[in-house]
Amino acid sequence: VSPDFTVQSTSPNAAAGLHVAVIMDGNGRWAARRGLPRPAGHRAGARAVRAIVEAAPSLGISTLTLYALSSDNFQRPAAEVSALMRLFAEYLGRESDALAEQGVRFRAVGRRDRLPASLCRVIDRAEQTTAAGARLTLRLAVDYSARDEIRRAVAAAPSGTDPFAGWPDVDLLVRTGGEQRLSDFLLWECAYAELWFTDRLWPDVTPQDLAAAVADFRRRDRRFGRIPA
Ligand code: FPP
Repeated sequence: VSPDFTVQSTSPNAAAGLHVAVIMDGNGRWAARRGLPRPAGHRAGARAVRAIVEAAPSLGISTLTLYALSSDNFQRPAAEVSALMRLFAEYLGRESDALAEQGVRFRAVGRRDRLPASLCRVIDRAEQTTAAGARLTLRLAVDYSARDEIRRAVAAAPSGTDPFAGWPDVDLLVRTGGEQRLSDFLLWECAYAELWFTDRLWPDVTPQDLAAAVADFRRRDRRFGRIPA
């Protein structure tokens, strides 16, 4: 994937590269269309993650936040939730070294208190192994709820301080799988995000699709409430 753009965004973090957030929807339908169980769709989704992460820096992306499991997804059957937890642990166990070699810094976002201890350990290890990564920050949202994070940040912030200091603005929000909604993802950070939707199911998404989303984003006129120059 070759970059074919010049940076036009006036967002505060444009100089550092783009923050792209992705709602990876459609794994279940991908599996159903093939007569496979839903976890097979999630496994195919994990393969798609790998290619997207590899391609992101060449597209000018410096932060990539992937919605892997929402807090509301905990209402799904326990077997599906635990299959996802195992998949996250497998992915991180397998990929941490490769991520570090690619200059990717991994961070998990979301609650940790409902995750299995074994997954928490793999997350901690991946965060440590990749701590020096400077090409891309990969944030995986697991047991994540934007409303919950906002509530907690406000409650924890000492008075007179900004509860959201350091929360990176999203430049581009991508959702796959045909639905057009935010599903409690990065509600504060998406205040001025450009939105891009595709019907393609997540396991079928390729770096070319991400390149198309970024190219579309580069053509948009971001005004942040101001009048065009
Ligand atoms: C939404 O599709 C997807 C999820 C709830 C899980 C996302 C997980 C992955 C993409 C794979 C794992 C990622 C890593 C980093 C290992 P859905 O199940 O709601 O699909 P549907 O709408 O077609 O039912």
